[in-house]
Amino acid sequence: GAPVEVDISKLEAGQMMTVEWRGKPVWIINRTPEMLETLPKLADQMADPNSEVKSQQPDYAANPTRSIKENLLVVVGICTHLGCSPTSKFKAGAEEGMAGDWLGGFLCPCHGSTFDFAGRVFKAKPAPTNLEVPPHVYLADTRILIG
Ligand code: FES
Repeated sequence: GAPVEVDISKLEAGQMMTVEWRGKPVWIINRTPEMLETLPKLADQMADPNSEVKSQQPDYAANPTRSIKENLLVVVGICTHLGCSPTSKFKAGAEEGMAGDWLGGFLCPCHGSTFDFAGRVFKAKPAPTNLEVPPHVYLADTRILIG
């Protein structure tokens, strides 16, 4: 599949957009400082907190935010368990059946895997690995080339 060029100039803090790449949904999320603050707090609850499973991200995203730019997460929005599409659960959400201490992230409706704002999977969830970070590069501050 061809690389996909994305204009993120309208993507405000706290928003996400979805683009298609090789038939897959790719999420681009402009994380707020509050979202980023949750990441170190969750490290000990994660199956692969330090992105050691090399298949799930390029080397340049094997860092604490799993990204090139700290705020901007680019991940394939497909659950690494059996391929369902997780939904965003940006806010604390006891109303969604999540624990009251849920800090936000993504929930897969199929078998309950949960992921944080870096796409890292929580321990003891069926999904075996973190969400995939696709190869990507910044052509400019507001233009990303995926693939
Ligand atoms: Fe997502 Fe099973 S497909 S938890």
